Amino acid sequence: MTVTLSPRALMSLLVNGPKAIDVLDTASEMGLLDALEPGPARLDAMAARFEVLPLRLYKFLDCVESLGLLIRDEPDDDIGATSYRAVPGLRDAVDAVLGPGATERDRDRYPWRQLHGRLAGSLRGDVSIDDGFAWPPKTATQSAEFERSMALGLGPAIETVRRHASRLWSDRHRLLDVGGGDGTLAAHILDSAPALRADVYNLPAVAPLVAATRANRGHRDRMGFVGGDFFAEALPTGYDALSFVRVLHDWPNAVARQLVEQAYVAVEPGGLLLICEEFRTPDRLAMQFFWSYFLIGVDSSVSRLREVDFYTRLLTEVGFQHVSVLPGPWELVTAYKPI
Ligand SMILES: C[S@@+](CC[C@H](N)C(=O)[O-])C[C@H]1O[C@@H](n2cnc3c(N)ncnc32)[C@H](O)[C@@H]1O
Repeated sequence: MTVTLSPRALMSLLVNGPKAIDVLDTASEMGLLDALEPGPARLDAMAARFEVLPLRLYKFLDCVESLGLLIRDEPDDDIGATSYRAVPGLRDAVDAVLGPGATERDRDRYPWRQLHGRLAGSLRGDVSIDDGFAWPPKTATQSAEFERSMALGLGPAIETVRRHASRLWSDRHRLLDVGGGDGTLAAHILDSAPALRADVYNLPAVAPLVAATRANRGHRDRMGFVGGDFFAEALPTGYDALSFVRVLHDWPNAVARQLVEQAYVAVEPGGLLLICEEFRTPDRLAMQFFWSYFLIGVDSSVSRLREVDFYTRLLTEVGFQHVSVLPGPWELVTAYKPI
């Protein structure tokens, strides 16, 4: 069931956002979501099981339903006989946003308040994020904090590369993960590709973070680091696979093209190029809301969530062959340099 709310209804939900979060947090903590997600769950049975008052629970569940997250079947006047089913994925979604290690909690640490209430001034260029954040990161602390946030949000990319591991890596020997953060993704790839070696290519300041990942994840022999700046020098050669994960969307179209062209030159003939990020859909734009807002005040980050077609077209134009889009929580675009 997909419900599109009117602007007026959406505004009511937004203005009551903290209360909606309170409802979902409570439903999760009490275990109500565990009963609701497989569903159907009757109101009288839930009231007895969770030792709550039926009429109060009915109103509480109205709050959840108003968010489009619950399907209700109310056969007659007896509210006790009303049964409910949560939309699939609700429990995981609540956990991802409110649970320990939630990305939204992590995002809240960023100095977004420098813009809050001053957006008009920011749009005119008078107010920027000028304290506590820089893109690309400038200090060791900024690098560490930024890469930690990135690693926290890598779950969908990790899941997609895991799902396609045998297809991706069975005939590959050396991967270069360009702009590969603190090496978390490379470590996960190595977990499911025992014959692969992977190097992370990143700004030199990130070296200690990759060294820590390498040590902590038990890949001392197969994981390396190559420090460099892809705007100052050519990408290193000698790899039969190259990946850009959440790297190209940081730059304008012309720069994204230039990076893909550099990858074409660097990768070996027959080499694999892999692009993975949140390709633009309404859902992903919503999940990206924090960064869209925060980066209004950071001109050096273009933050372009592009449709997947942009990349499939670009890869073909640059000369790659066999361009495919592999499914997953975030799709994976793969392409090969002709032999
Ligand atoms: C948005 S992060 C993505 C990190 C990681 N791939 C992930 O998905 O978690 C972009 C990465 O590009 C790196 N980067 C930015 N400018 C760079 C440059 N000029 N040369 C090399 N890496 C760069 C950053 O340090 C960062 O690790």
